[in-house]
Amino acid sequence: MSLKFPNDFLWGGAIAANQVEGAYLEDGKGLSTSDCTPNGIFGDIVDRTKTEINGLKDIAIDFYHRYPEDIALFAEMGFSCLRVSIAWTRIFPNGDEAEPNQKGLEYYDKLFDEMAKYGITPLVTLSHYEMPYHLITQYGGWGNRKLIAFFTHYAQTVFTRYKHKVKYWLTFNEINMSLHEPFTGVGLDRKSNKQQIYQAIHHQLVASSRAVKLCHDIIPESKIGNMLLGAIAYPLTPKPEDVWTTHQENHGWLYFGDVQARGYYPSYMQRYFKDNNIKLDITKQDCDDLKETIDFISFSYYMSCCATADNSLRQKGNILDMVPNPYLEASEWGWQIDPVGMRYLLNLLYERYQKPLFIVENGLGAKDTVEADGSIHDDYRIKYMNDHLVQVREAIKDGVEVMGYTSWGPIDLISASKAEISKRYGFIYVDLNQDGSGTLNRIRKKSFYWYQSVIQSNGETL
Ligand code: BG6
Repeated sequence: MSLKFPNDFLWGGAIAANQVEGAYLEDGKGLSTSDCTPNGIFGDIVDRTKTEINGLKDIAIDFYHRYPEDIALFAEMGFSCLRVSIAWTRIFPNGDEAEPNQKGLEYYDKLFDEMAKYGITPLVTLSHYEMPYHLITQYGGWGNRKLIAFFTHYAQTVFTRYKHKVKYWLTFNEINMSLHEPFTGVGLDRKSNKQQIYQAIHHQLVASSRAVKLCHDIIPESKIGNMLLGAIAYPLTPKPEDVWTTHQENHGWLYFGDVQARGYYPSYMQRYFKDNNIKLDITKQDCDDLKETIDFISFSYYMSCCATADNSLRQKGNILDMVPNPYLEASEWGWQIDPVGMRYLLNLLYERYQKPLFIVENGLGAKDTVEADGSIHDDYRIKYMNDHLVQVREAIKDGVEVMGYTSWGPIDLISASKAEISKRYGFIYVDLNQDGSGTLNRIRKKSFYWYQSVIQSNGETL
């Protein structure tokens, strides 16, 4: 028996400023960490105040100028929601100014107004894998407690400016990513030790909870969530040691959600800090701030992985080091495809937090071929997404409260890990090549019409 999704289910897509906008220095924008990692978050860090380069993200898909055309295409698919991020450096180019950049504020006004024209609800991430580069060179990134005040000033500015236009907010994209990539996550040197990384993460968690408080105060009818990389791990074998290692590995990302949803550090993290001789500077004020908890949990889900006590089986992955699951196939980029993992993750998070969930990223990165007649037959993408959405529906039948689904990259964009355009996620193709050539024209793929009918039928055609 098929079941429709809830009537108020939000259907749409998710994009991030640094992967679509381009215009990287236009209208007063400052340099961000993303601008300084032109080859992706795992590529070299380039000090662009000193070195001139051309990065693909500098122009990206030129969403900064072409957003009216793109939003019209999203509306044609029937989107009721679009997840975007604000580039912090458009509002505060250096991050430590007292006054915001008016041109930057005006740009997002126009963007939200365009969405409103079609009844598309914005879901806005305050910081999606970027921060002002100046905050790193001058203050040492999130290792410095001062960053909490800079971030809250930025959050307060955008909440106040857009309070009539934006009711759904997220604080930090994939906040648990800092453990794997400290430069992009918390603006720290990649050689930083655990003590430094966990301290910087602590400052970010405090900043997140202060933003939650500000959001509640400034926009009382709003909802604000966190954003986790749902890095769910299964035990590689039923060996008790593997099961325990898996439990601990999952704690490695769930602890962020535990702090943000419960308002305090869980006991297993106290033990972890003690065992690893990590002594965090946590003030009484920090503890009070952390008590302001999120309204909902949001997460990205692309793949699952395995964990084992045998460290020699770990493989270097595209984003995370992982132990592959022998029962699953993988994408061209080695990401293992596991639709049932979506249902498992939704159930796990709901049982743990009893808060509504929002799937804010899911999708398949793949190479697409444009046929001679201009059509693109991306049946692999349709299959991936259909299989995952069927499992979302199962989770809803299990009783999980799911607010919505925004697929990752509804329009092709520059990938985060390696800044590739060949790794395409979109329902809409963008004519752009890795060397920057291409017309930037938009073409509807086969999946465009598939998603359109899914949304139109509220999931009945799955
Ligand atoms: C998530 C990020 O990690 O995964 C996105 O929030 C990113 O920014 C997405 O684009 C997919 O990763 P990639 O490397 O394929 O772009």
